[in-house]
Amino acid sequence: MANKPVLWIPRKLSPNTEARAARDYEVLLNPEDTLSSSGKIVAMSHHVDAILPCHSEIFDADVVSRMGKRTRIVANHSVGVDHCDLEAFRNRGIVVTNTPDVLSDATAEIAMLLLIGAARRAVEGDRLVRNGEWSNWSPSFLVGHQVTGKRLGIIGLGKVGRVMAERARGFNMEVHYHNRSRLPPDLEQDAIYHADLDSLLAVSRFLSLHCPATPETAGILNGETISKLPDGAIVVNTARGALIDESALLDAVASGKIAGAGLDCFATEPGGNPAFSAHEKIFMLPHIGSATFDTRDAMGFRALDNLDAFFAGREPRDRVA
Ligand code: DGY
Repeated sequence: MANKPVLWIPRKLSPNTEARAARDYEVLLNPEDTLSSSGKIVAMSHHVDAILPCHSEIFDADVVSRMGKRTRIVANHSVGVDHCDLEAFRNRGIVVTNTPDVLSDATAEIAMLLLIGAARRAVEGDRLVRNGEWSNWSPSFLVGHQVTGKRLGIIGLGKVGRVMAERARGFNMEVHYHNRSRLPPDLEQDAIYHADLDSLLAVSRFLSLHCPATPETAGILNGETISKLPDGAIVVNTARGALIDESALLDAVASGKIAGAGLDCFATEPGGNPAFSAHEKIFMLPHIGSATFDTRDAMGFRALDNLDAFFAGREPRDRVA
């Protein structure tokens, strides 16, 4: 069909997403899945009507200011938009969307995996069996922290946080949370609200981070806030690496203040923090919270729904700028 909008998809997406995109757009794909430099993003923006990037493509103020006039919408394949300078996009009049809701189940699954894995010493156990080093069993062997019935603090009871709370209730955990404002009872369920972050930290035997990375939340878990946690707390982060001061976390794990951590996000990605490898109490995954076949399709389709609405002259459902 003539006059299809030209769409650039900088990363390799699910086959179903790419097939639908190719049906409805003149699509430029990246089968090699290479990472695009800021120069490439700027160059491509002069030749395409829309871009469907992931959180790996950085749209800072400089990139957005140099983007071509032709690109009118950036439809992200992510719920997080900390890789986008939204103010710069607004100034340029370029529409930006994200993909909320559809990755909440998958991300909460990984948060529970990390929470239980950190509590029950999954890294050490796996290493022992895998390396043929499991030579003994005794009641005092590899004893961990029970999750069932304990208290879970959640920073950010948004969509992912609420699914995490629901899963935690399956383990009879008592859920507490801190948000900027209290949620209505139907969203809060029986979670206990703490207007004050320190008050939440003081009761959080387990703590899971589910807030977006913003200038206000950067480093929300640092030496001072970690000191407010109960001794032997277990920390989980499936949101963004920027939320944690990693050297403070390392110190707290080394001192035993924190008994374990489950991390899917790091300050430096890809790569992570090599210093964490010295601690088997830190259970790590490479930012795969949303990496399931179902969720990849759902994220791709949600981004395409936003593009379809935009090019049909309607307001995209998930507009963030
Ligand atoms: C998100 O959607 O923000 C996830 O971190 C994957 O990009």
